[in-house]
Amino acid sequence: MQKKTVRDADVAGKRVLVRVDFNVPMDRNVEIEDDTRIRACLPTIMYLVDHKARVILCSHLGRPHGRVDEHLRLGPVARRLSEIVQRPVDALQEAIGPGVVRAVSEMQDGELVLLENLRFYPGEEENDPGFARELSGLADLFVNDAFGVSHRAHASVVGVAAYLPCVAGLLVEKEIGQLSHLLEDPARPFAAVMGGAKVGEKIGILENILPEVDLVLIGGGMVATFFKGRGLGVGISPVEPDKRELVGTIMHKAEGLGVRVLLPEDVVVAEKLEAGATARVVSAEQIPADCRIADIGPLTISAYTKELKKCRTVVWNGPMGVVEIPQFSEGTTSIATVLASLNATTVIGGGSTVEAVTQLGIAGRITHVSTGGGASLRFLSGKILPGIAVLADKE
Ligand code: 3PG
Ligand code: MG
Repeated sequence: MQKKTVRDADVAGKRVLVRVDFNVPMDRNVEIEDDTRIRACLPTIMYLVDHKARVILCSHLGRPHGRVDEHLRLGPVARRLSEIVQRPVDALQEAIGPGVVRAVSEMQDGELVLLENLRFYPGEEENDPGFARELSGLADLFVNDAFGVSHRAHASVVGVAAYLPCVAGLLVEKEIGQLSHLLEDPARPFAAVMGGAKVGEKIGILENILPEVDLVLIGGGMVATFFKGRGLGVGISPVEPDKRELVGTIMHKAEGLGVRVLLPEDVVVAEKLEAGATARVVSAEQIPADCRIADIGPLTISAYTKELKKCRTVVWNGPMGVVEIPQFSEGTTSIATVLASLNATTVIGGGSTVEAVTQLGIAGRITHVSTGGGASLRFLSGKILPGIAVLADKE
């Protein structure tokens, strides 16, 4: 990578603001379900601690949209980090303000603090210069180790660059190195498997990656919008109304490029997406009016499996169904198992996808498990991520 990293900076005795992506999956009791993203930042954190920096960590958690949400405080994350690194990690109750300034001024070399959830402040997502300036004022140097959020032009990712020298963390360096290497001249056929919940934005990304791939397999929340776009009934499944036209555009563009976009031929549906719900398998043309799509069906699983077995490169982002509920998780576990068995370059990304693969104990059989979902897909489509663009270039 042509960007400076923490290794190129003089950090001893310096206050270093480190943007991390500690947006970890939490269960109903605010317990961390998967700490992959915390562990992924350890090389940078320990490098800074060992080199006597004063380490000010900052992250978002969830999407509280500029308001304090008691369920999205970073205290539990600080506790988990503290257990892992076997040192105190002070969880501050705010991200900016006099209390934070005081706490930081009392830090000693090698100490760690974690600021409160950045998205409790509207200025974060708005990339407000005032918020960026206050954050920057806490430190002498900025380190981006939040690969998973590097595609967002937010204050703590991009805005701070106006006020502080910026370098990459070791996770960002590794992700960029691996992703560029793996996807530079991909062995073909090359498939993208797309699922997950952030439908509106994923559809946009999908359009951008079409020129890179040979095949796209669609699952997850996106299915309903694609079905609707093709005139099929989707029951009470949520659709992105303003994306229906884009579905047509994507299908048209794919055809022109000779890229096949496969949709499920059958799906698992239910009246409610909850623990005790009854799951039914129906064909794509026969979704009952009172049901929602909850997973891909068995015929689709076999069809997708057959396609994937021919592929030499596969990038997967986003679960195929409502993976938290066992009767809707079959699609996701099947795809994960197939990927782990392939003799191919496999790259997976996204919080829930990584969690599914980790829980199955097969992460070790995936070529690269990325901490970024949207970020890795956007990177793959050849876009320069805004959070990477602002980092200092190597001389
Ligand atoms: C993620 O989970 O993909 C990253 O943490 C970014 O989160 P966001 O999609 O809410 O910006
Ligand atoms: Mg996520």
